[in-house]
Amino acid sequence: MTIEGQVVLNVRSERETALLALRIAGLVKPGTVLALDGDLGAGKTTFSQKFAKAIGVTDIVNSPTFTIIKEYEGASMPFYHMDVYRLSLEEADELGLDDYFFGEGVTIVEWASLIEELLPPERLEMYIAHEGGEERRFRISGIGEPYAAWCEVLLNEMGAGNNDD
Ligand SMILES: Nc1ncnc2c1ncn2[C@@H]1O[C@H](COP(=O)(O)OP(=O)(O)OP(=O)(O)O)[C@@H](O)[C@H]1O
Ligand SMILES: [Mg+2]
Repeated sequence: MTIEGQVVLNVRSERETALLALRIAGLVKPGTVLALDGDLGAGKTTFSQKFAKAIGVTDIVNSPTFTIIKEYEGASMPFYHMDVYRLSLEEADELGLDDYFFGEGVTIVEWASLIEELLPPERLEMYIAHEGGEERRFRISGIGEPYAAWCEVLLNEMGAGNNDD
């Protein structure tokens, strides 16, 4: 049975999104996969940009909606940034995504649930919900280790006054 963890974090501002990205950046290692979902404009790319900055990417990180996959150099490992919104499952399958997922760097996939079949079995899933303004709700599920344990860490670091619903 796969071990799972879950945490829901309410973020009140873009600055707090950056703080969450910083916390997660402190946990990642080569081969980490962050699977992001959430409606248009939820903040998947914004989170990715903050995360990139936190792992030492100095290049400008744009939305990969049209480039599909973009590689950046971070301070201690590469950052692979994907957006699979425009891809069919078949097209995504042909990209050989496992080379990234199991590679030397950390991967973020925007719209990851569209290619669920192709994702590695162990990953951190993050669903971002928004209802206007700068507030966001991050529903985070850690599937397998170490991701399940990360949820506990994130709750301890980010959860104060945040876990009341
Ligand atoms: N707390 C917050 N966290 C993230 N983004 C926020 C927050 N508050 C406001 N925003 C704004 O919301 C927008 C999010 O857009 P972004 O492109 O990141 O969304 P997306 O989920 O990647 O959309 P798409 O599905 O089109 O790729 C940005 O303009 C950002 O500045
Ligand atoms: Mg985006």
